[in-house]
Amino acid sequence: MANPVEAIVWQPYQMELLDQRRLPLETVSCSLTDAQSTAQAITDMVVRGAPAIGITAAYGMVLAAHQATCSGSDLRPALETARQQLAASRPTAVNLFWALEKMMEEADRLMASSASSVEITEGLERLACAIHEDDIARNRALGDFGAGLLASDAHVLTHCNAGALATGGHGTALGVIRSAVEQGKDIKVWVDETRPYLQGARLTMYELMTEGISCQLISDNMSGFVMAQGRVDAVIVGTDRTVANGDVANKIGTYTLAVLCARHNIPFYVACPLSTLDLSIETGADIPIEERSADELLQMGGTSIAPMGAQGYHPAFDVTPAELVTAIITEAGVARAPYAESLANLRYEQKSGDEE
Ligand code: MRU
Repeated sequence: MANPVEAIVWQPYQMELLDQRRLPLETVSCSLTDAQSTAQAITDMVVRGAPAIGITAAYGMVLAAHQATCSGSDLRPALETARQQLAASRPTAVNLFWALEKMMEEADRLMASSASSVEITEGLERLACAIHEDDIARNRALGDFGAGLLASDAHVLTHCNAGALATGGHGTALGVIRSAVEQGKDIKVWVDETRPYLQGARLTMYELMTEGISCQLISDNMSGFVMAQGRVDAVIVGTDRTVANGDVANKIGTYTLAVLCARHNIPFYVACPLSTLDLSIETGADIPIEERSADELLQMGGTSIAPMGAQGYHPAFDVTPAELVTAIITEAGVARAPYAESLANLRYEQKSGDEE
Protein backbone atom coordinates (compact mmCIF):
# COMPACT_ATOMS: atom_id res chain seq x y z
CA MET A 1 0.00 0.00 0.00
CA ALA A 2 1.21 3.54 -0.76
CA ASN A 3 1.92 5.79 2.23
CA PRO A 4 -1.14 7.69 3.44
CA VAL A 5 -1.11 11.43 2.81
CA GLU A 6 0.11 13.81 5.53
CA ALA A 7 -2.18 16.70 6.46
CA ILE A 8 0.21 18.41 8.91
CA VAL A 9 3.99 18.67 8.68
CA TRP A 10 5.85 20.41 11.51
CA GLN A 11 9.30 21.90 11.36
CA PRO A 12 10.59 24.36 13.98
CA TYR A 13 8.97 26.94 13.87
CA GLN A 14 6.72 26.62 10.89
CA MET A 15 3.75 24.40 10.11
CA GLU A 16 2.89 23.15 6.62
CA LEU A 17 -0.79 22.31 6.14
CA LEU A 18 -1.86 20.45 3.04
CA ASP A 19 -4.59 22.74 1.68
CA GLN A 20 -7.60 20.42 1.76
CA ARG A 21 -9.81 22.99 0.04
CA ARG A 22 -7.90 22.37 -3.16
CA LEU A 23 -7.76 18.58 -3.13
CA PRO A 24 -7.98 16.48 -5.20
CA LEU A 25 -7.19 18.78 -8.12
CA GLU A 26 -4.11 20.37 -6.57
CA THR A 27 -1.73 19.28 -3.81
CA VAL A 28 -0.42 22.53 -2.37
CA SER A 29 0.49 23.49 1.18
CA CYS A 30 0.01 26.60 3.31
CA SER A 31 2.93 27.68 5.54
CA LEU A 32 1.96 29.09 8.91
CA THR A 33 4.15 30.84 11.46
CA ASP A 34 1.66 32.36 13.93
CA ALA A 35 -1.42 31.42 15.94
CA GLN A 36 -3.77 33.93 14.34
CA SER A 37 -3.28 32.56 10.83
CA THR A 38 -3.45 29.02 12.23
CA ALA A 39 -6.89 29.81 13.69
CA GLN A 40 -7.96 31.29 10.35
CA ALA A 41 -6.74 28.18 8.50
CA ILE A 42 -8.91 26.02 10.76
CA THR A 43 -11.97 28.26 10.23
CA ASP A 44 -11.39 28.25 6.47
CA MET A 45 -11.04 24.43 6.38
CA VAL A 46 -7.48 24.37 5.05
CA VAL A 47 -7.25 21.63 7.66
CA ARG A 48 -10.33 19.85 8.99
CA GLY A 49 -11.35 16.69 10.81
CA ALA A 50 -11.49 16.63 14.61
CA PRO A 51 -8.09 15.14 15.53
CA ALA A 52 -6.26 17.14 12.82
CA ILE A 53 -7.83 20.36 14.13
CA GLY A 54 -6.62 19.50 17.66
CA ILE A 55 -3.06 18.79 16.49
CA THR A 56 -2.98 21.97 14.40
CA ALA A 57 -4.15 24.04 17.39
CA ALA A 58 -1.41 22.50 19.56
CA TYR A 59 1.24 23.56 17.03
CA GLY A 60 -0.48 26.97 16.83
CA MET A 61 0.26 27.42 20.54
CA VAL A 62 3.92 26.56 19.90
CA LEU A 63 4.05 29.20 17.17
CA ALA A 64 2.59 31.76 19.60
CA ALA A 65 5.20 30.87 22.25
CA HIS A 66 8.00 31.11 19.70
CA GLN A 67 6.86 34.50 18.41
CA ALA A 68 6.53 35.91 21.94
CA THR A 69 10.00 34.58 22.80
CA CYS A 70 11.56 36.13 19.68
CA SER A 71 9.93 39.50 20.29
CA GLY A 72 10.62 39.48 24.05
CA SER A 73 6.89 39.75 24.91
CA ASP A 74 5.33 38.25 28.05
CA LEU A 75 4.54 34.62 27.38
CA ARG A 76 1.41 34.17 29.54
CA PRO A 77 -0.74 36.87 27.86
CA ALA A 78 0.54 35.86 24.41
CA LEU A 79 -0.48 32.24 25.03
CA GLU A 80 -3.85 33.27 26.44
CA THR A 81 -4.57 35.38 23.33
CA ALA A 82 -3.54 32.48 21.08
CA ARG A 83 -5.70 30.07 23.05
CA GLN A 84 -8.72 32.33 22.62
CA GLN A 85 -8.11 32.84 18.89
CA LEU A 86 -7.73 29.10 18.30
CA ALA A 87 -10.71 28.18 20.50
CA ALA A 88 -12.93 30.47 18.42
CA SER A 89 -11.95 28.83 15.12
CA ARG A 90 -14.56 26.01 15.03
CA PRO A 91 -17.00 24.97 17.78
CA THR A 92 -17.96 21.30 17.35
CA ALA A 93 -14.79 19.17 17.36
CA VAL A 94 -13.88 18.71 21.02
CA ASN A 95 -10.28 17.73 20.12
CA LEU A 96 -9.58 21.43 19.61
CA PHE A 97 -10.45 22.29 23.22
CA TRP A 98 -8.84 19.09 24.53
CA ALA A 99 -5.51 19.97 22.85
CA LEU A 100 -5.62 23.63 23.94
CA GLU A 101 -6.24 22.58 27.54
CA LYS A 102 -3.29 20.19 27.48
CA MET A 103 -1.02 22.88 26.01
CA MET A 104 -2.09 25.51 28.60
CA GLU A 105 -1.63 23.03 31.46
CA GLU A 106 1.89 22.30 30.25
CA ALA A 107 2.68 26.01 29.85
CA ASP A 108 1.45 26.67 33.40
CA ARG A 109 3.49 23.77 34.75
CA LEU A 110 6.66 25.02 33.04
CA MET A 111 6.05 28.61 34.14
CA ALA A 112 5.58 27.47 37.73
CA SER A 113 8.97 25.74 37.52
CA SER A 114 10.55 29.10 36.51
CA ALA A 115 11.60 27.78 33.09
CA SER A 116 12.85 30.40 30.59
CA SER A 117 10.74 31.42 27.55
CA VAL A 118 12.97 29.32 25.32
CA GLU A 119 12.58 26.29 27.60
CA ILE A 120 8.81 26.79 27.73
CA THR A 121 8.62 27.03 23.93
CA GLU A 122 10.69 23.85 23.60
CA GLY A 123 8.51 22.10 26.19
CA LEU A 124 5.35 23.07 24.31
CA GLU A 125 6.89 21.90 21.06
CA ARG A 126 7.70 18.51 22.59
CA LEU A 127 4.09 18.18 23.80
CA ALA A 128 2.57 19.18 20.43
CA CYS A 129 4.79 16.65 18.62
CA ALA A 130 3.82 14.00 21.19
CA ILE A 131 0.10 14.74 20.67
CA HIS A 132 0.65 14.36 16.92
CA GLU A 133 2.60 11.08 17.15
CA ASP A 134 0.33 9.69 19.82
CA ASP A 135 -2.70 10.31 17.60
CA ILE A 136 -1.25 8.04 14.90
CA ALA A 137 -0.47 5.27 17.41
CA ARG A 138 -3.97 5.53 18.90
CA ASN A 139 -5.60 5.42 15.46
CA ARG A 140 -3.67 2.24 14.71
CA ALA A 141 -4.91 0.64 17.93
CA LEU A 142 -8.45 1.80 17.16
CA GLY A 143 -8.10 0.47 13.63
CA ASP A 144 -7.14 -2.99 14.89
CA PHE A 145 -10.13 -3.16 17.24
CA GLY A 146 -12.46 -1.98 14.46
CA ALA A 147 -11.05 -4.32 11.82
CA GLY A 148 -12.05 -7.23 14.04
CA LEU A 149 -15.70 -6.22 13.56
CA LEU A 150 -15.57 -6.52 9.77
CA ALA A 151 -16.11 -9.71 7.76
CA SER A 152 -13.29 -10.76 5.44
CA ASP A 153 -15.22 -9.55 2.38
CA ALA A 154 -17.21 -6.66 3.89
CA HIS A 155 -18.81 -3.87 1.89
CA VAL A 156 -18.45 -0.82 4.12
CA LEU A 157 -20.10 2.57 3.67
CA THR A 158 -18.45 5.71 5.08
CA HIS A 159 -19.43 9.37 5.24
CA CYS A 160 -17.28 12.51 5.13
CA ASN A 161 -13.53 12.01 5.62
CA ALA A 162 -12.22 10.43 8.80
CA GLY A 163 -8.92 9.38 7.27
CA ALA A 164 -5.25 10.35 7.39
CA LEU A 165 -6.24 13.82 6.19
CA ALA A 166 -8.52 14.30 9.20
CA THR A 167 -6.01 13.06 11.79
CA GLY A 168 -2.29 12.83 12.55
CA GLY A 169 -2.24 9.81 10.24
CA HIS A 170 -3.94 6.44 9.50
CA GLY A 171 -7.40 7.84 10.31
CA THR A 172 -10.26 6.68 12.51
CA ALA A 173 -13.12 5.37 10.32
CA LEU A 174 -10.73 5.01 7.38
CA GLY A 175 -8.15 3.70 9.87
CA VAL A 176 -10.49 0.76 10.56
CA ILE A 177 -10.75 0.14 6.81
CA ARG A 178 -6.96 0.53 6.34
CA SER A 179 -6.23 -1.88 9.19
CA ALA A 180 -8.71 -4.43 7.80
CA VAL A 181 -7.05 -4.21 4.36
CA GLU A 182 -3.60 -4.56 6.00
CA GLN A 183 -4.92 -7.73 7.68
CA GLY A 184 -5.66 -9.12 4.21
CA LYS A 185 -9.42 -8.52 4.22
CA ASP A 186 -11.09 -7.84 0.89
CA ILE A 187 -12.90 -4.62 1.85
CA LYS A 188 -14.98 -2.67 -0.65
CA VAL A 189 -15.91 0.88 0.29
CA TRP A 190 -18.98 2.93 -0.62
CA VAL A 191 -18.07 6.59 -0.25
CA ASP A 192 -20.86 9.12 0.36
CA GLU A 193 -20.03 12.32 -1.50
CA THR A 194 -20.94 14.34 1.64
CA ARG A 195 -22.82 17.40 0.49
CA PRO A 196 -22.27 20.30 0.69
CA TYR A 197 -18.49 20.36 1.25
CA LEU A 198 -17.82 17.08 -0.58
CA GLN A 199 -15.28 15.68 1.88
CA GLY A 200 -16.22 12.17 0.70
CA ALA A 201 -15.90 12.81 -3.02
CA ARG A 202 -12.80 14.99 -2.78
CA LEU A 203 -10.86 13.63 0.20
CA THR A 204 -11.95 10.08 1.04
CA MET A 205 -11.90 9.00 -2.61
CA TYR A 206 -8.46 10.62 -2.95
CA GLU A 207 -7.07 8.76 0.05
CA LEU A 208 -8.54 5.38 -0.86
CA MET A 209 -7.59 5.61 -4.52
CA THR A 210 -4.03 6.72 -3.63
CA GLU A 211 -3.70 3.50 -1.65
CA GLY A 212 -5.45 1.25 -4.11
CA ILE A 213 -8.31 0.39 -1.75
CA SER A 214 -11.42 -0.61 -3.70
CA CYS A 215 -13.99 2.21 -3.53
CA GLN A 216 -17.00 3.63 -5.32
CA LEU A 217 -18.51 7.07 -4.96
CA ILE A 218 -22.24 7.55 -4.40
CA SER A 219 -24.21 10.71 -3.76
CA ASP A 220 -25.66 10.93 -0.26
CA ASN A 221 -29.21 10.25 -1.44
CA MET A 222 -28.17 6.88 -2.92
CA SER A 223 -27.17 5.24 0.35
CA GLY A 224 -30.71 4.03 1.21
CA PHE A 225 -31.12 2.33 -2.14
CA VAL A 226 -27.69 0.67 -1.97
CA MET A 227 -28.62 -0.64 1.50
CA ALA A 228 -32.00 -1.87 0.23
CA GLN A 229 -30.11 -3.76 -2.51
CA GLY A 230 -28.26 -5.64 0.23
CA ARG A 231 -24.92 -4.18 -0.80
CA VAL A 232 -23.82 -2.65 2.53
CA ASP A 233 -22.58 -4.85 5.40
CA ALA A 234 -21.58 -2.06 7.80
CA VAL A 235 -21.42 1.72 8.08
CA ILE A 236 -18.39 3.30 9.80
CA VAL A 237 -18.12 7.00 10.49
CA GLY A 238 -15.86 9.26 12.54
CA THR A 239 -17.04 11.77 15.11
CA ASP A 240 -16.34 15.34 16.19
CA ARG A 241 -17.68 14.89 19.69
CA THR A 242 -19.22 11.88 21.40
CA VAL A 243 -20.75 12.55 24.79
CA ALA A 244 -21.35 10.65 28.02
CA ASN A 245 -24.60 8.90 26.99
CA GLY A 246 -23.12 7.83 23.61
CA ASP A 247 -24.81 10.48 21.43
CA VAL A 248 -22.55 11.23 18.47
CA ALA A 249 -21.95 14.53 16.68
CA ASN A 250 -20.54 14.04 13.20
CA LYS A 251 -20.77 15.47 9.69
CA ILE A 252 -24.25 16.46 8.57
CA GLY A 253 -25.94 13.41 7.04
CA THR A 254 -24.59 10.96 9.61
CA TYR A 255 -27.91 10.82 11.49
CA THR A 256 -29.75 10.00 8.25
CA LEU A 257 -27.38 7.08 7.67
CA ALA A 258 -27.91 5.75 11.20
CA VAL A 259 -31.69 5.80 10.70
CA LEU A 260 -31.26 3.95 7.40
CA CYS A 261 -29.04 1.38 9.10
CA ALA A 262 -31.72 0.71 11.73
CA ARG A 263 -34.29 0.27 8.93
CA HIS A 264 -32.07 -2.20 7.09
CA ASN A 265 -30.58 -3.97 10.11
CA ILE A 266 -27.04 -2.91 9.23
CA PRO A 267 -24.47 -2.27 12.00
CA PHE A 268 -23.68 1.41 12.47
CA TYR A 269 -20.17 1.88 13.94
CA VAL A 270 -18.55 5.07 15.20
CA ALA A 271 -14.75 5.33 15.31
CA CYS A 272 -14.01 7.59 18.26
CA PRO A 273 -10.53 8.15 19.70
CA LEU A 274 -10.72 8.97 23.42
CA SER A 275 -9.60 12.55 22.61
CA THR A 276 -13.00 12.96 20.89
CA LEU A 277 -14.94 11.78 23.93
CA ASP A 278 -16.51 14.60 25.96
CA LEU A 279 -17.77 13.12 29.20
CA SER A 280 -18.46 16.61 30.57
CA ILE A 281 -21.60 16.76 28.40
CA GLU A 282 -24.41 14.33 29.22
CA THR A 283 -26.44 14.29 26.01
CA GLY A 284 -26.11 15.34 22.40
CA ALA A 285 -28.63 18.16 22.90
CA ASP A 286 -25.83 20.21 24.50
CA ILE A 287 -23.21 19.75 21.76
CA PRO A 288 -22.50 23.06 19.97
CA ILE A 289 -23.29 22.56 16.29
CA GLU A 290 -21.40 24.73 13.84
CA GLU A 291 -23.47 26.60 11.27
CA ARG A 292 -21.42 27.50 8.22
CA SER A 293 -22.07 29.98 5.45
CA ALA A 294 -25.03 29.08 3.23
CA ASP A 295 -22.78 29.95 0.27
CA GLU A 296 -21.10 26.57 0.71
CA LEU A 297 -24.51 25.06 -0.07
CA LEU A 298 -25.71 27.52 -2.68
CA GLN A 299 -22.53 27.40 -4.77
CA MET A 300 -20.33 24.67 -6.17
CA GLY A 301 -16.78 25.54 -7.17
CA GLY A 302 -17.77 29.23 -7.06
CA THR A 303 -20.78 28.73 -9.39
CA SER A 304 -24.30 29.33 -8.05
CA ILE A 305 -26.54 26.25 -8.17
CA ALA A 306 -29.68 28.00 -6.86
CA PRO A 307 -31.55 31.08 -8.08
CA MET A 308 -29.87 34.42 -7.31
CA GLY A 309 -30.90 35.58 -3.83
CA ALA A 310 -31.85 32.07 -2.62
CA GLN A 311 -31.62 31.54 1.16
CA GLY A 312 -29.96 28.44 2.57
CA TYR A 313 -29.37 26.75 5.93
CA HIS A 314 -26.09 24.95 6.53
CA PRO A 315 -25.61 23.11 9.83
CA ALA A 316 -22.23 21.41 9.36
CA PHE A 317 -22.91 18.56 11.82
CA ASP A 318 -25.80 16.55 13.22
CA VAL A 319 -26.31 14.39 16.29
CA THR A 320 -27.01 10.66 16.12
CA PRO A 321 -28.74 9.35 19.24
CA ALA A 322 -26.89 6.57 21.04
CA GLU A 323 -29.79 4.13 20.53
CA LEU A 324 -28.91 4.02 16.80
CA VAL A 325 -25.21 3.28 17.41
CA THR A 326 -24.22 -0.40 17.31
CA ALA A 327 -20.77 0.17 18.84
CA ILE A 328 -18.23 2.91 19.51
CA ILE A 329 -14.71 1.88 18.57
CA THR A 330 -11.87 3.47 20.57
CA GLU A 331 -8.15 2.79 20.93
CA ALA A 332 -8.89 1.22 24.31
CA GLY A 333 -11.53 -1.21 23.05
CA VAL A 334 -15.06 -1.41 21.67
CA ALA A 335 -17.86 0.15 23.72
CA ARG A 336 -21.46 -1.07 23.48
CA ALA A 337 -24.68 0.11 25.08
CA PRO A 338 -25.28 1.19 27.78
CA TYR A 339 -22.69 3.78 26.76
CA ALA A 340 -22.83 5.84 29.96
CA GLU A 341 -21.15 2.85 31.62
CA SER A 342 -18.96 1.44 28.85
CA LEU A 343 -17.47 4.80 27.75
CA ALA A 344 -16.74 5.88 31.31
CA ASN A 345 -15.02 2.52 31.94
CA LEU A 346 -12.85 2.78 28.82
CA ARG A 347 -11.81 6.35 29.72
CA TYR A 348 -11.03 5.24 33.29
CA GLU A 349 -8.98 2.21 32.17
CA GLN A 350 -7.07 4.36 29.70
CA LYS A 351 -6.27 6.99 32.36
CA SER A 352 -5.09 4.33 34.82
CA GLY A 353 -2.94 2.77 32.07
CA ASP A 354 -1.38 6.17 31.23
CA GLU A 355 -0.52 6.80 34.89
CA GLU A 356 1.22 3.42 35.42
O1 MRU B 1 -16.22 19.68 8.71
P1 MRU B 1 -15.16 18.64 8.80
O2 MRU B 1 -14.63 18.21 7.48
O3 MRU B 1 -14.08 19.07 9.78
O4 MRU B 1 -15.90 17.40 9.45
C1 MRU B 1 -15.16 16.22 9.70
C2 MRU B 1 -15.97 15.11 10.23
O5 MRU B 1 -17.16 15.21 10.41
C3 MRU B 1 -15.23 13.85 10.59
O6 MRU B 1 -16.04 12.73 10.42
C4 MRU B 1 -14.79 13.91 12.06
O7 MRU B 1 -14.14 15.12 12.33
C5 MRU B 1 -13.90 12.79 12.43
S1 MRU B 1 -12.33 12.89 11.66
C6 MRU B 1 -11.42 11.58 12.22
